[in-house]
Formats: sequence, C-alpha cells, structure tokens
Amino acid sequence: MEDRMVSGDLQADDESVELSLRPKRLQQYIGQTKTKENLKIFIEAARMRDEPLDHVLLYGPPGLGKTTLASIISNEMGGQFRTTAGPAIERAGDLAAILSSLEPGDVLFIDEIHRLPRSVEEVLYPAMEDFCLDIVIGQGSEARSIRLDLPPFTLVGATTRAGLLSAPLRDRFGVLSRLDYYDKEDLCAIVERTAEIFHVRIGRDAALEIARRARGTPRIANRLLKRVRDIAQVKGEEVISLETTQLALGMLQVDQEGLDHIDHKLLLGIMDHFKGGPVGLDTIAATVGEESQTIEDVYEPFLLQMGFIQRTPRGRLVTNKAYAHFNREVPGE
Ligand SMILES: Nc1ncnc2c1ncn2[C@@H]1O[C@H](COP(=O)(O)OP(=O)(O)O)[C@@H](O)[C@H]1O
Ligand SMILES: [Mg+2]
Repeated sequence: MEDRMVSGDLQADDESVELSLRPKRLQQYIGQTKTKENLKIFIEAARMRDEPLDHVLLYGPPGLGKTTLASIISNEMGGQFRTTAGPAIERAGDLAAILSSLEPGDVLFIDEIHRLPRSVEEVLYPAMEDFCLDIVIGQGSEARSIRLDLPPFTLVGATTRAGLLSAPLRDRFGVLSRLDYYDKEDLCAIVERTAEIFHVRIGRDAALEIARRARGTPRIANRLLKRVRDIAQVKGEEVISLETTQLALGMLQVDQEGLDHIDHKLLLGIMDHFKGGPVGLDTIAATVGEESQTIEDVYEPFLLQMGFIQRTPRGRLVTNKAYAHFNREVPGE
C-alpha cells in the first residue's frame, strides 16, 4: 500500500520532525480538554500521595497524540519514560526482563497493546495489580513459581483498537481515555505552534486552511505544513500565504475536505458505476481495484465519519453530501 499524504499512520518522513514537535508538558498539549483535565487531577492527586499514577489506557485513531500524551505523563510524574510495543514482545520472558528493570516511578509505555500475545499479557496482570512478577523456574515436576517484587510504576497502554483488548487487561487500567478527532480551531493552534518550532511565519487564514484539510489529525496537519513550507520557501515567501497553501495542497491532491485521490476514486466509482449505491463492498473493491479489507479498515472510516458514505444492509451508499462535494446532481432527483 502506498503512503498517503492524509494517513494518520507514522511514515518514514514524519519521524525526523516528530520528536522536536512533541509537546513536553500537559499545558502545551492542545485540545482534548476532557482527557487533559482528568489527567491533571489524577496526576496531582498521585503526586500529593507520593504514589505512582494509576495505569492509563489511551485509545483512538492513529496520529491523535497517544504517544505524545504518554511521554507527557512521564514528564509530569518525573520518572523515566520506557517504551515498547505489543508486536515487539514475543515471549513472556521478554516482558519479565523489561518489568524487572523498571525503577520506582517509571512510566512503561506499551504501544499497540492489543497486539500483545495472550501468554505475555498474563505476566502483566500481577505486575499491574500487585507490582509483582511470577516466575516459573525448573521444569516438569521440579517446576516451582517464585514471586518477585517490582517497584511501583505506571503502565500506559495505547491502542487504535480498544475493542480488541481482552476484558481482564482492560479492567486493570484505572484510567481509560479516548482521544477524539480535533476540531479546526485546535488543529489551527497546532499548525501555528509547529510553524513556530520550524521558525516559519504563517498567516492565520493559511493555518486554518491546513487545519480544515487535516482530517482532525495533528500528525496530518504537521505533515501538510511541512510540505506547504517547502513550497513557500521555494517561492521566497516570508509569511506563508493562503494562496500558496491552497496551491501546495492542490499539488498534493488534498482537497478542501481533506479527501485525496483514493477517496475520490472510491466515491466517484460508486457514483459512476452504481448510481451512488447501495452496492456491496466486494463489488466496489473489484471495480476500483482495491482489497475489500483495506477499503473497510483504512479508506472507509473517514468517509463514514464525515458522512460521505453510509452503510446500509444492502451495501454502501454515497450520500447527498458527497454529490454536493463534487458539484454533481443526485441521481433521480
Ligand atoms: N495535542 C497535541 N498538541 C500538539 N501536538 C500534538 C498533539 N497531539 C499530537 N501532536 C503532534 O502529532 C504528532 C503525532 O502524535 P502521536 O502522539 O505520535 O500520535 P499517536 O501516538 O496517537 O499516533 C506528534 O509528533 C505531535 O507533534
Ligand atoms: Mg503512537
């Protein structure tokens, strides 16, 4: 699958800049007011009691700031930030090694925690609940289990698929926070903050234009700004203008609503070949030459969320909003 300009997933190009763009304190973290307010209270209370913060589960689509928030929690609590990811931990012993190297007050961040193997997950239960590690030594009839104490620590888990988490694991988190898509104003503030870190100036209308097309996602907003900046630089522009922004985003094939050529192909495919639907997913997939699974998991969620398509029992239906977006008449009206 190609890298899309409008994908929330981390891409090779993002990595070089993201570290410098990550806010370090809760106060610098823009938007997500409810999550922020809750965390602020929990963090303050934990610090007053001189205890680690309760384990935190952050969930939501890619690029919304889960990893960022995890590192902020660690900064605010003052411990070390230790990171790993579900797919990186294959055996129970791998996790045991990480846990036994923790120091008091550390934050252990497990990204994509829904991808932890079940046998590994079971090591986490006593670690989260009682700060201890059960280790089996010896084999067969000789085998016996010993219990090791762990220092008090905070586990922060992140997932894009909270539904895939097992109930026993989910229940062991004291704080569950869902990150939502950002509104235009918050994204605009993020673009302006990033511009400052890039040492470039950008007009408010231009920042808002990027915000409007960034699909509610800070990672996409920052990526778009980076490309727009490059073009403004080549043009010798001192303050990035709305015109240049529109030109650049047009060149990148990101339209006014943040749709790209793949979204267009899908929507126009249903309009042109099936009079707007309803049409089954597999039929759409065959027509546009994409995998059904990819359409369902990757392409469709944003279109559904924005109300460009609807799911009906008889298949996918393109909405009037989509027809309006392409300046087309709704068939049969
Ligand atoms: N609330 C926010 N305020 C400012 N920047 C943010 C915020 N959330 C995310 N970002 C930016 O977006 C980028 C992606 O965030 P990240 O935490 O890696 O997302 P996730 O882990 O959910 O995929 C970060 O590098 C950061 O610069
Ligand atoms: Mg992340």
